[in-house]
Amino acid sequence: MGHEMFEFDPELTDAVFEYCRERLAMDPVPLDFGSLMAPPPESMAGLIRPEGRNAQDVLELFKTTLAPAVVSIDSPGFLAFIPNAPTKNSLLFDMVVACSGLNGTSWLESSGVVVAENQALTFIADTAGMPAGSGGAFVSGGSIGNLSSLTVARDVGRAKHLDLNPRDIRFAISEDAHSSIGKALHVLDVATLTVATDDHRFTRAALEAAIAADPHPENIIGIIATAGTTNAGIVDDLDGLGSFARESDLWFHIDGAYGGAAIFSATHRHLFEGIRHADSFIVDPHKWLFAPLDCCALIYRNPTVARKVLAQQASYLDVLHEGSDDEYEWNPSDFGIHLSRRARGLPFWFSLVTNGSAAYESAVQCAIDLAQRTQELINESGYVEMVRPSSLSIVLFRRKGWGAERYHQWSEGLLRRQIAFVTPTKWEGEVVGRMAFLHPNTTESMVREILESMRD
Ligand SMILES: Cc1ncc(COP(=O)(O)O)c(C=O)c1O
Repeated sequence: MGHEMFEFDPELTDAVFEYCRERLAMDPVPLDFGSLMAPPPESMAGLIRPEGRNAQDVLELFKTTLAPAVVSIDSPGFLAFIPNAPTKNSLLFDMVVACSGLNGTSWLESSGVVVAENQALTFIADTAGMPAGSGGAFVSGGSIGNLSSLTVARDVGRAKHLDLNPRDIRFAISEDAHSSIGKALHVLDVATLTVATDDHRFTRAALEAAIAADPHPENIIGIIATAGTTNAGIVDDLDGLGSFARESDLWFHIDGAYGGAAIFSATHRHLFEGIRHADSFIVDPHKWLFAPLDCCALIYRNPTVARKVLAQQASYLDVLHEGSDDEYEWNPSDFGIHLSRRARGLPFWFSLVTNGSAAYESAVQCAIDLAQRTQELINESGYVEMVRPSSLSIVLFRRKGWGAERYHQWSEGLLRRQIAFVTPTKWEGEVVGRMAFLHPNTTESMVREILESMRD
């Protein structure tokens, strides 16, 4: 007889599976309420105690008290921040991953995970136009993807510029780079040349002008571009910046955490041609590639360089790193700032293989098309106007006559009435409305209802 915690409980298993089945069958998933229904402290008081509690009761507490206090990020009405819309197959396979005892750290332990994840990574790399041999790992999210790749970039830059004080080296970035880039550079203690841009798009011309005006351009070791800014969906001049990086022997990193998925869009893939120049590229399947949280595809042009910087060395790990470079198998742990690793690429892999890449192309396109249709509806409305043209799947709009407080009240009202979750943002200092489309089941009639709610 084993330990009591490891006994199989058929009734609880049925209850949990039934809950999952109900969620999977919901069409659409309800928005629910987030902080509007924050659980009162007494609902949680004293729950943890030596003798434990009845699991069915605790599952019930989750269903009735905790789950409604979360705005479901996979609801088609979730249009704030960057939503997440996992396919049914990816969710089902996430449950398989949870129950399969997979540690996606090394080839030695998990070659079966690595071949499948690498198939998905290679598919992304090929679609993005990166050269054969590119590769990396799935990491927890864009923030860690950026931090990992910029760590490699920094070390490569330092090694190339032994003449420079390591504290003086810099990356060229634009003001619209995601906050995780700033955080990564803070962690890495690397400064920036922050380039002023024309309409928030980082271009080669702007970079060249900034470099020409800079007293110490020699200490710039890399360029960081964004393929789909989070606030507005703007894709930087990847081709111009990338060719400049190649000509100047600089590291070229592309943060496509959100917008990189539009490499699958028939109408917009041309904006991403410059990814072929990238030394490192990230895109989050947990954003616009329909995988559950948490999953970022981190891809290096030269994975050997990356693992020389990032692989963790310890005597108990030597078994993973024996052999020459030619004999190297593949340890996902060597490519990011992590060691133990959930096989988080598998739900994406399973969904991509089973649904087929054409389904991904059409699902990505749905969001872009709806953003463009929303722009038309806004232009027809008379009382709402576009702040700037829609980019990728993001729409920034202004309700004429509204100030900040009105936007916040409206946003809360929409959530209370379970119409949608739309939060305001700031554009050039002004509070404005923002919708980020992503779920292919978000409909034009939902958008019409949202616009109607701003009429008075
Ligand atoms: C462009 C961009 N980069 C990085 C991130 C950070 O990704 P994550 O939240 O997965 O850490 C985001 C998140 O929205 C993003 O939009």
